[in-house]
Amino acid sequence: MTDPVPAQILELDIDAIAGAEGRVVVFSDDKGKLDQAGRRVNRLTRGALERFVASKAYADMKSGDAADLGFPTGMAADAVQVVRLDRKFDTAAARKAGAAIGKAKSGKDLLVLAGNLKHAHEVLLGLTLRVYAFSDHKTKDSDPEGPVTVMVTKPEEVQAAAADVPALAQGVFFSRDLVNAPSNVLTTTEFADQLVKLRDLGVEVEVLEEDQLEGLGMRTLLAVGQGSASPSKVVLMHWRGGSAETPFALVGKGVVFDTGGISLKPASGMEAMTMDMGGAGVVAGVMKTLAARHAKANVVGLVGLVENMPDGNAQRPGDVVTSMKGDTVEVINTDAEGRLVLADVLWYAQERFKPSGMVDLATLTGAIIVGLGHHKAGVFSNDDDICGAFLKAANAEGEGAWHMPLDPAYDEQLKSNIADMMNVGGRTAGSITAAQFLQRFVNEDCPWIHLDIAGVASVKTGTDFAPKGATGWGVLALNRLIADRYEDKA
Ligand code: BES
Ligand code: MN
Ligand code: ZN
Repeated sequence: MTDPVPAQILELDIDAIAGAEGRVVVFSDDKGKLDQAGRRVNRLTRGALERFVASKAYADMKSGDAADLGFPTGMAADAVQVVRLDRKFDTAAARKAGAAIGKAKSGKDLLVLAGNLKHAHEVLLGLTLRVYAFSDHKTKDSDPEGPVTVMVTKPEEVQAAAADVPALAQGVFFSRDLVNAPSNVLTTTEFADQLVKLRDLGVEVEVLEEDQLEGLGMRTLLAVGQGSASPSKVVLMHWRGGSAETPFALVGKGVVFDTGGISLKPASGMEAMTMDMGGAGVVAGVMKTLAARHAKANVVGLVGLVENMPDGNAQRPGDVVTSMKGDTVEVINTDAEGRLVLADVLWYAQERFKPSGMVDLATLTGAIIVGLGHHKAGVFSNDDDICGAFLKAANAEGEGAWHMPLDPAYDEQLKSNIADMMNVGGRTAGSITAAQFLQRFVNEDCPWIHLDIAGVASVKTGTDFAPKGATGWGVLALNRLIADRYEDKA
C-alpha cells in the first residue's frame, strides 16, 4: 500500500523559514502582493521575491501556475516555489495549485507558507493526491518522500477543514495501487485478500467462491473466468455506518486481466489490460475512504473478480449461457466479457440488498475512449435525479464526466436468433449498446448509474492530480455523492 505523504499543519513561524531545507512555497496574487511569510522570504533573499513578482515572467503566469527560484541566497532551501493564485480563487483552483506543488516536490521536504490563504485544506489535498508513486516493484528504491509542513495563521481551523484529507487520499491510493498492480501479482485471489484487509477498518467483507457462485446461478460471470487458472470470485464489502435500512450499492468490473479470451486481442498494447479491474478498484477505494472517515452511511460494494483467458476450458464465440436473472446470452465475442460479469453481480446486488440506488463502474468499452478520450467518463442512467447529483459531484471534484444516452431503440442491435440477447451490438454506438445490455439486469425502480471508465481509469500522460498510470478517477466523486445524498446529517 502506497501511503500518503506525511503532513502536518502548524502555526505560522516566520523564524523557521531561513533554516527550512528542501522546498519552500509562497503564494502571491495578480497584484504580486506578498504576505507576512512572503515578506520574510523577500528579506532573506535580499529582494529576489519582490523582483520576481514584479517581472514579466510573473505577469505572464496564469492563476494556479507556479515557478521556482533556485538555491536562494540567505535560505537553507533548494528552492522557493512561487505560486500565483489570483484574488477570488475557488476551491478547484486551490486544489490545482496544490497539485502543482506536489508535482514539483520530487521527494524533498516541503514547507508550504499558506498564512491566511483561503482553501488551504484544498491545497493540501491537491498536493497529497499528486505526491504518488507506485514503487512496489522498483528494487533500487529512491529515498522516502520528505514530509510536508503547512504553516497557517489559524492552524485549528485548517486542521478541522483538512480532517478528511488522509481518508480521501488513502481511498484514492488504494484504488491506484490495485489498478497499477501487474496481473501475475494481483490475481483474483490476491485481490480478494487485499479486500479482506478492509475488515481492519470495520468493513464487513464476504468472499463468494466458485461453488457458491455456481449455486447462485451466476453462469455469465463464471463463463468469463472458466479459461483461467485463477478462480472467479465475488467479494462483498459492507460499510454500515449509517441508519438507512437499505444500502446504497457500488458494483465494479474486476477483470484482473483481459486477453479477450478466444476472441483474442492483438498483442500490441495488450499489457494495458492489467487495468481491466479498474471498476472494482474504484469500488474498493470508495469503501476504504468511507470507512476511514467513519461515514454515517450504509453502503455495500460488490466486485466480480475474474480473469479472461483463452484455454481449452474457455468459453467460445457462439456459446449460450444463462445469467443468474434467467435471461440467456449468446456470446458472439468473448472479448465483450465485462458486461457478462456485471450482469450477474448487478442482479445479485439487487436480489440480496434491494439497494436504494446503484452505481456500477467498468472499464467496459474501447468505444468510450473513441467518443470521450481520456478526460471524461461516460455516464449512463435510468434516473435523471441521481444522474444530475452524480454529475454535480464529479464536477465539484474535478473528475470529468459526460452524460450519454440510453434508449430502447438501441436494443435492436442486441437481438439474437437463438437466445434472449447477444453480448455485442455491432460496430456502431458500442458504449451505448453495452449500457443497454447492462440495463436489462437492472430493475426499473432501482435508480442506477453506469460509469464507463475505460478512458479515465489509467492514463499514459499524467493528469492534474495523478502521475501517469492509475488515476483513482471516481473515488472522490462517489464519496461526495454518498455524502450529499446517502449520509445521515449530523
Ligand atoms: N476491457 C475492454 C475495454 C477496454 C478497452 C478497456 C480499452 C480499457 C481500454 C473490454 O472488455 C473490451 O474488450 N471491449 C470490447 C467490446 C467489443 C468486443 C464489443 C471493445 O471495446 O473492443
Ligand atoms: Mn474485453
Ligand atoms: Zn474487459
